[in-house]
Amino acid sequence: MTKTPSKTVCIKTYGCQMNVYDAARMADVLAPLGYRPVTEPAEADMVLLNTCHIREKASEKVFSELGRLRQLRQVRIDRGLGRMVIGVAGCVAQAEGAELLARAPWVDLVLGPQTYHRLPEMLARLAREGGAQLDTDFPADPKFDHLPAPGPRGPSAFLSIQEGCDRFCTFCVVPYTRGAEVSRPAAAVLDEARALVDQGTTEITLLGQNVNAYHGDGPDDGAAWSLARLIRALAEIPGLTRLRYTTSHPRDLTDDLIAAHAEVPALMPFLHLPVQSGSDRILKAMNRGHTAEAYRRVVDRLRAARPDLALSSDFIVGFPGETEADFQDTLSLVRAVHFVQAYSFKYSPRPGTPAAARPGQVPDPIKGERLARLQEVLNTQQSLFNRQCVGQEMDVLLDRVGRRPGQLLGRSPWMQPVHVSAPAAILGRSCRVLIVDGQPNSLAGRLVTPATEPPSADADAAPAAAPTPTRIPA
Ligand code: 5AD
Ligand code: SF4
Repeated sequence: MTKTPSKTVCIKTYGCQMNVYDAARMADVLAPLGYRPVTEPAEADMVLLNTCHIREKASEKVFSELGRLRQLRQVRIDRGLGRMVIGVAGCVAQAEGAELLARAPWVDLVLGPQTYHRLPEMLARLAREGGAQLDTDFPADPKFDHLPAPGPRGPSAFLSIQEGCDRFCTFCVVPYTRGAEVSRPAAAVLDEARALVDQGTTEITLLGQNVNAYHGDGPDDGAAWSLARLIRALAEIPGLTRLRYTTSHPRDLTDDLIAAHAEVPALMPFLHLPVQSGSDRILKAMNRGHTAEAYRRVVDRLRAARPDLALSSDFIVGFPGETEADFQDTLSLVRAVHFVQAYSFKYSPRPGTPAAARPGQVPDPIKGERLARLQEVLNTQQSLFNRQCVGQEMDVLLDRVGRRPGQLLGRSPWMQPVHVSAPAAILGRSCRVLIVDGQPNSLAGRLVTPATEPPSADADAAPAAAPTPTRIPA
């Protein structure tokens, strides 16, 4: 018999998909303690902010939110609803640790991305001793060995297979907040994937900060498996019809991975492959380890393997020392490659990263102006791709309820959101859809014939609306 939930937890997630995955895993850890997830902080006995440190803006949001939570806690106490536990998890917790407690002393829990499996012990200590509990270790014994099996995630799920990064791009905090690159053993990944599929998941996105550097122990002799080998093994799981991986580094796009794009039908024809800049001088200063030309060669090889492959990318404008000529090189690369989706950012100096202390910091108005020019080109490319889809038939995984009545929302193989008028009974299924309209940010389609795949085990449990997270850095 299942235990009746007696407490509520609200986990507010900022940042990348890995944080979305971590939030779901935190909920898995808390479920046996009787915590039921809720979306409104006002209804929660415990609020966990699952934070992002990648840019200053993301990081500063945490402190304004903590101020609001402090007031909310007081309201709850005044109404006799009991004291709300306030916790900070994720990368800001990892980076700021004790300083965070000094700045927001009303916080009860501070825990890093590698220690959330210890939440039950932290809560027990908090109840016993009071006082803030802090755990930002990088334990030798990985958290994954201590996490329970995943709960139901709906038709599309994330699965972390690799964490941390050894590349040390000079702008990036990830090697400091998430630590050194670690891959999970292939058997553990396969087990978690099977558990998700058994509960109705048909699409899995493999996550890692540098996911294509994956080199997990193999199940047989312990010899490491590459990402390509793992993808081939996952594609054998009956019912797992769509696979994706993110985020990749161009330097680690190996021949066997490119071959997998040609040979594994479940591997979707969409790849997020951040380039950051099109200027060789800036790429060198960023310590990216490749030139613009090398990036274009990788793209050519991918497209030769999978002609319908569409690309997305991340860009940073106004990196220290970036001139107008460097920026023009970025625009040229964008025009040459053609991206169907992209994330672009003004460079944000992050404490402790090499580029933050460099001369030649670019004034904010110049960053803003370059960002607008870059986004105009990227938006045009995205809109064009979406318009070109009109008249095509494609498989759409209908994974959530749309905003309008009678409407479901799904994803195309190329990650475009697709609105479809469809009965709620087919929520969770992959269906053949004719695209009838292409807007800048989404498509609209008509059902052709429902596909033959079984619906998810519990279609009603599919998420009604999930936030679209930002990308994992790479
Ligand atoms: N400033 C601006 N953008 C950054 N990114 C990472 N670090 C910074 C920074 N300091 C961007 C990169 C990365 C994406 C997730 O965030 O483009 O790929
Ligand atoms: Fe690693 Fe990506 Fe950050 Fe570079 S941008 S250090 S590859 S996580």
